[in-house]
Amino acid sequence: MNEVLIRGRVLTFLAEPQGIDDTTSYRYIEDGAVYVRDGKIVDIGAYGDIRKLADAGIRIADHRPNLILPGFIDTHLHFPQTQVIASYGAQLLEWLNTYIFVEEQKFARAAHAAEVADRFMDELLSNGTTTAVAYCSVHPESVDAYFAAAEARGMCMIGGKVMMDRNAPDALCDTPQRGYDETKRLIAKWHGRGRAHYAVSPRFAITSTPEQMEMSKALVAEHPDCYVQTHLSENRDEIAFATSLYPEAKDYTDIYARYGLLNDRMLLGHCIHMSEREVAVLAETGAVGVFCPTSNLFLGSGLFNAAQFDKVGARWSVATDVGAGTSFSMLETMDEAYKVLHLQGQRLTPFNSFYRMTRGNALALGLEKQIGSLQAGADADIVVLDSRAKSAMEFRMRTATSLAEELFILQTMGDDRCIAEVYVAGRAMKTKGKKTDTIVRE
Ligand code: GUN
Ligand code: FE
Repeated sequence: MNEVLIRGRVLTFLAEPQGIDDTTSYRYIEDGAVYVRDGKIVDIGAYGDIRKLADAGIRIADHRPNLILPGFIDTHLHFPQTQVIASYGAQLLEWLNTYIFVEEQKFARAAHAAEVADRFMDELLSNGTTTAVAYCSVHPESVDAYFAAAEARGMCMIGGKVMMDRNAPDALCDTPQRGYDETKRLIAKWHGRGRAHYAVSPRFAITSTPEQMEMSKALVAEHPDCYVQTHLSENRDEIAFATSLYPEAKDYTDIYARYGLLNDRMLLGHCIHMSEREVAVLAETGAVGVFCPTSNLFLGSGLFNAAQFDKVGARWSVATDVGAGTSFSMLETMDEAYKVLHLQGQRLTPFNSFYRMTRGNALALGLEKQIGSLQAGADADIVVLDSRAKSAMEFRMRTATSLAEELFILQTMGDDRCIAEVYVAGRAMKTKGKKTDTIVRE
């Protein structure tokens, strides 16, 4: 039995916070502890109470005065784009052709894929992200590298081989049949193995023929417990091109709807320039729009309209979208999310931001029992946040008077330097193997 008591200021969400003063949507324990056994949370509560439940000799990881939250969740990014973040000067379609479709060809080499996959998982963990949903390249080797790197770290990760059979270099194209066969093989190999989940991943309507969409439809029908992911309505030129390729569809969303891809396990990256009809279709089907603020600003794509989703009860999640997204940090992502919504007269409260990064994104994935909150029985994926990690933050924190203010400072000024520790299934990953192991004291 492997047990640890993680002590600090514990914060976890129970529901979506409504308004700035909502204190019923979260649980905050000033001198709290999370009791972890064999990778799962046994219980949380006041340190004094939890201490009595455990054996006298239990290890105590004392993180006071830091905050202890569920690990962050990133619902959309591209693992083969790790080394092309910050590629200059282009909007979506030109950016894909100039940078991305060149870079992704390197992933035909398994050794390259393995090296980047290791780096990718370590970047996620350095930023406090314990679960992510990623596109791999078209090469099955890239998927093997991705899930192997996740498995080696014990991480709950979702991903899949991108399928493309047109409007991309030949070296990055499969065929409808090959995309189908390779996806089937990868699902058989990885889906449900340890903490891995597969996502069927037609890149977007521009790079898939109707025949490949038919194959995607078959894959989704044959594997209802897998996820599906694609891109939707990110950029005006993209929308015009996609709808010209599917003239029978009512609009961009209808392309995916016609192939039976919209369901409550579908993640649609971006969803920026959406008509009311399209958002209503997402609400009806339970498909999730994924808000990627740093990416949308970086590529000049537009502003995600959260109010348009909320008005009709459509689901949305948040994500980095690395490599169009400019940071692996969910803190930096929520900083930009706040600004994108602010520009449109909308408000994202500090509690709502931290809810979104944790329980909100877990709900979007249907994994709320396993991840995204610190509840008994959940997996012990945990992040420890230091609100004073940078000197400017330390100085600013001297005038902070509430938890909401502290969270807002973390989101606005914070980055990977604020991640004091990260636990994956109860294992400390940041200080692992280093001299400065997590401080253990009574
Ligand atoms: N649309 C299709 N592929 C991509 C991609 O790799 N990144 C982004 N941001 N949008 C896309
Ligand atoms: Fe993307």
